[in-house]
Amino acid sequence: MTEPATRVLLFTGKGGVGKTSVAAATALRCADAGLRTIVISTDPAHSLADAFDTVLGPVAAPVEGHEFLWGEQFDAQDRMEESWADIRSYLLEVFDWAGLEGIRAEELSMLPGLEEVFALSDINTYVASGDWDVVVVDCAPTAETIRLLSLPEILAWYMERVFPVGRRVNRLVGPVLSKVSNLPVADDAVFGAGRRFYDRLDGVREVLADPEVTSIRLVVNPEKMVIAEARRTYTYLSLFGYRVDAVIANRLLPEAIKDPWFERWKTLQAEHLAEIEAGFAPLPILRASLADHELVGSERLRGLGDEIYVDLEAHRLLHRDDPLGVDVNPDGTATLRLPLPFASGDDLDLSRSGDELSIRIGSYRRVVSLPDALRRRPVASARLNGGVLEIGFGCRTDQRRPRGGSRSVAREARR
Ligand SMILES: Nc1ncnc2c1ncn2[C@@H]1O[C@H](COP(=O)(O)OP(=O)(O)O)[C@@H](O)[C@H]1O
Ligand SMILES: [Mg+2]
Repeated sequence: MTEPATRVLLFTGKGGVGKTSVAAATALRCADAGLRTIVISTDPAHSLADAFDTVLGPVAAPVEGHEFLWGEQFDAQDRMEESWADIRSYLLEVFDWAGLEGIRAEELSMLPGLEEVFALSDINTYVASGDWDVVVVDCAPTAETIRLLSLPEILAWYMERVFPVGRRVNRLVGPVLSKVSNLPVADDAVFGAGRRFYDRLDGVREVLADPEVTSIRLVVNPEKMVIAEARRTYTYLSLFGYRVDAVIANRLLPEAIKDPWFERWKTLQAEHLAEIEAGFAPLPILRASLADHELVGSERLRGLGDEIYVDLEAHRLLHRDDPLGVDVNPDGTATLRLPLPFASGDDLDLSRSGDELSIRIGSYRRVVSLPDALRRRPVASARLNGGVLEIGFGCRTDQRRPRGGSRSVAREARR
């Protein structure tokens, strides 16, 4: 198998668990191995530069003292100003078009999701450039990360409706729309700007959802609330089709500590670690102990990297799992399988509209376009089976049973 040109490693977890330290250590390890590595922090509470004990800005620049390592502390405001004209004119026209007049340009920067668009577009650009072997992303705490990662698909969903088949069709539809609703219809210039805006994200979902390219690593501490959040994250990431390839259990109390005061803590940690290992299996659980110092500077980050990865190459895919799949069963029915680790039936909600299936867990919703094999089939059942959502579909409604009975039906089913 050929190696993908670039690997993208995203680190996420609850605030303070050690995301930045682990991301920095990982990036350094990759760079030390001679891989051209860029590490980007997308958490507005930047501490990447502090971890390296250096200065990093919103523009990618070499990390001092390392031949193959670059860094960037992503700044949405900076990116927005850089590409402001494009986006502003487009968005203002769209709002105008929608009848929301009087929106000021500055107010646009508060649009939810816009920050994420820029961060994603940076990642996309680095991957597309071919200049990097590894792109390491030190993500914001979990909720923002999920927002970030759910964005491309949501945007695509809207864009396909706003720009159905491109401008040509709009010319045909435009006059009709105007007549019906009296709303001004976006002109060619707006379409151009809109497309350019959207093109920044073109392919980003494919990049991030391709396990050969992108791996997400969950950083946890052996603590109840941290683990609970990591489980939910794992569920949501799986919902959107993103792949986790390892869990990093950080801040484990070292064996060497014999102080009685810490004995109780060590017992608790051991229990939580066992829970992590059982719950997240078969994902590899990498470990890092609580150091007796802050993890600042290359030497210490290198030590952290050695401890976490031992003899593993940090940029490799550490675990390969089963993605969303469809089975056509011998009796002509079909089953859609979507891994949803830790999901519970109580917060799962399914609905179908035409050839789209909407799957909601908690406050996150994914709309899946049904693959061809499942179209024109009624949903017959749904259940969670060992962390996998299994949706049963009946036989195709357009395949009438041919005369002659079961033999032909069996033949149909094999098609
Ligand atoms: N294993 C560890 N041992 C000692 N200190 C740690 C360890 N992991 C993280 N730290 C320290 O904890 C603080 C928070 O870590 P950081 O990586 O910034 O977390 P996050 O990015 O998740 O908020 C930093 O001062 C870091 O040096
Ligand atoms: Mg951080």
